[in-house]
Amino acid sequence: MSASDNLERTDSNMRIAALRAELARHDELYYRQAAPVISDYEYDGLRRELDALLADRGLAPDACGALTQLPGDDRTEGFAKVAHHAPMLSLANAYAESEFREFIARLQRLLPPGESLEFVVEPKIDGLAVSLTYEGGVFTRAVTRGNGSMGDDITRNVATIAGFPRRLSAPVPEFVELRGEIYMTHTEFMRINAAREATGLPLYANPRNLASGTVKLLDPAETATRKLEIVFYGLGACLPGTTFPCLSAFHDALVSWEMPCVSFFRKVACAQAAWECIGELDRLRHGLSCPTDGAVVKLDSLRAQEIVGASSKYPAWAIAYKFAPEQVATRLRAITLQVGRTGAITPVAELEPVELAGTTVSRATLHNADEIARKDIREGDEIIVEKAGEVIPQVVRPVLEKRGADSLPFNFAARLAELGLDAMRPEGEAVWRLRSPTQEQLLRKLIHFASKQCLDIANLGPAIIKTLASAGLVASAPDLYHLQRDQLLGLEKFADKSADNLLAALEASKRRELWRLIHAIGIPNVGMQTAKDLARHFLSLGALQGASYGDFRRKQRGRKGQELSAEESIINGVGETVARSIITWFSDPAHRELVENLRVLGLNFSHGPYGQAGAENHVLKDKVFVLTGTLPSLGRDEARQRIEAAGGRVSGSVSSRTSFVVAGTEAGSKLDEARRLGVTVLDEAALLALLIQGDEDGRVPPHAVASTNPKAAPTEPLAVQGELF
Ligand code: IVH
Repeated sequence: MSASDNLERTDSNMRIAALRAELARHDELYYRQAAPVISDYEYDGLRRELDALLADRGLAPDACGALTQLPGDDRTEGFAKVAHHAPMLSLANAYAESEFREFIARLQRLLPPGESLEFVVEPKIDGLAVSLTYEGGVFTRAVTRGNGSMGDDITRNVATIAGFPRRLSAPVPEFVELRGEIYMTHTEFMRINAAREATGLPLYANPRNLASGTVKLLDPAETATRKLEIVFYGLGACLPGTTFPCLSAFHDALVSWEMPCVSFFRKVACAQAAWECIGELDRLRHGLSCPTDGAVVKLDSLRAQEIVGASSKYPAWAIAYKFAPEQVATRLRAITLQVGRTGAITPVAELEPVELAGTTVSRATLHNADEIARKDIREGDEIIVEKAGEVIPQVVRPVLEKRGADSLPFNFAARLAELGLDAMRPEGEAVWRLRSPTQEQLLRKLIHFASKQCLDIANLGPAIIKTLASAGLVASAPDLYHLQRDQLLGLEKFADKSADNLLAALEASKRRELWRLIHAIGIPNVGMQTAKDLARHFLSLGALQGASYGDFRRKQRGRKGQELSAEESIINGVGETVARSIITWFSDPAHRELVENLRVLGLNFSHGPYGQAGAENHVLKDKVFVLTGTLPSLGRDEARQRIEAAGGRVSGSVSSRTSFVVAGTEAGSKLDEARRLGVTVLDEAALLALLIQGDEDGRVPPHAVASTNPKAAPTEPLAVQGELF
């Protein structure tokens, strides 16, 4: 080997090591912290560079968790595992015209002369792949991709998605797996993030992460609070196998069944026309309703597809052409520091407004001090901005050639000092936090405490809170409960009645459910759902306060019961970050004092009994339920607790006074009795719908009840949210 060969090899070794480290960092940010700092497109670029260097050495690609090229296994705890009848494969990606042409050339080699080279072209939806089974035209099951052969049964969560028919109109195949994507619109994503921002919770990175997190919530009632969409584009197993000769005929069937389909669908007769369609889609993509990150080109004929076949991962008959995220250059006017409710300080790029991917962008996220330093972003720089996940603008890099000679690196600590912010960076965290709260932060905390998602204190909105704080009457939550009638009457905003109303609302708030208080006290990273899970698990605020790390996370065990190094959550949704955040929060003496003050003031610190928790929620008031048989997911006790929490009663026998019989499999004589007396019968999904709907608008929706035949469950149609299916 020559000296120059040696040098090259060392260079390439160093680059391989650097790329591996870089990719590992992004995997950590993406998978564990749900806070990616580069787009999938950039990530794919790094991984492809690494794969190419390894291939040069005759080495196989690394088998680590690539984001988009090697789809991982999406299966999670808490869901039944179901086998797909036809495997759910992924798609090979192309990033340049040459790669698209290679795909075409390969098809030409594989197909006999004269075989059809017609294609369909459609958007690549950036969501979560799902397979819906219809038997005899009736929706029976929804399953995630999982590892491609077997996925998670998410039927109950998919049942909360509106807008797709639960029954297909004839003619229908005997059995069919419809493949599609669950996604979230930009508008819904923004709505949820805005609410999180208002309560100081970390923001979701992109609609895809949020959509897949939502589908995987263990409580369908929670899933139903976020609006998911579904769209269909693919065919899995189908009986009879000859039902569809080509994808365009299958697309026509989807349309005739009124299934939501991709809004751009073209059938073309040659590769060149397909290439032109890709360009057209790229121009149109920001106006499409689904988040779109590429174009998918597929052979139309199923016979031709069969001839070219598939590898274990990808079909040879399709390719995803990934669009580069749109980027623009603009001036970074300044870096401002924002203080959140929890005292976290977030740097924000204030930009010269610029058009990007369909909107005007004037601010962009800078993540944290490390990111600014790593990218060496400076005030006054010309910078490149793009939309991460096509939604949130972020700064990619400065344009170094245009940097002025007098420019200085951004000094985070010095800026904090200039602004008079007394902050520190807790060990192991990327975020700077205030040591003691500012007035603005105190207000935000109080607003959060009283908000609908927390203690839901009527008549205590942001304006009143500001008035009370400016008058010096409140600086923290316990102060609220010391307010006197006379003090309120001394303020312009209050008269006799409004003062009495506020005091009554404050009194009532002491009896709220435990999860509300857990959410209200503002532990970083603890949102409403986590608060509910914590309340259910620990049953009291004291137990939560006393919990140690081992009460949240434990070592996984291998097949033979041996301890593994990997950890798992004991409580749904409580990962390492959340666990540490809770422990750190309670270790602060000021927080312990706050909790103690609230306890002395008489706020409810305990979870049970459910009846108390639901005392304010009377949607099922006076309704008498009888439970019979085995429900698919709710245990008897949980079903009873949830009914009682909504104000209903559970009785052991059916009579003319029974409002509903909830029947599972192997329901016995109680079901027969219900039929004889004409009592409405619910299956589990209908019960959940009743609880969900009731939660939302406080009344029993007539369409949530259905007299189905649960004896035939689970393939019998379920009734949920306005549609019988
Ligand atoms: S066809 C055999 N069409 O992208 C694979 N997939 O990255 C058939 N996807 O696994 C898939 N939009 O989950 C197809 N219009 C589209 C798609 C699409 C999004 C997903 C799908 C696939 C993944 C590959």
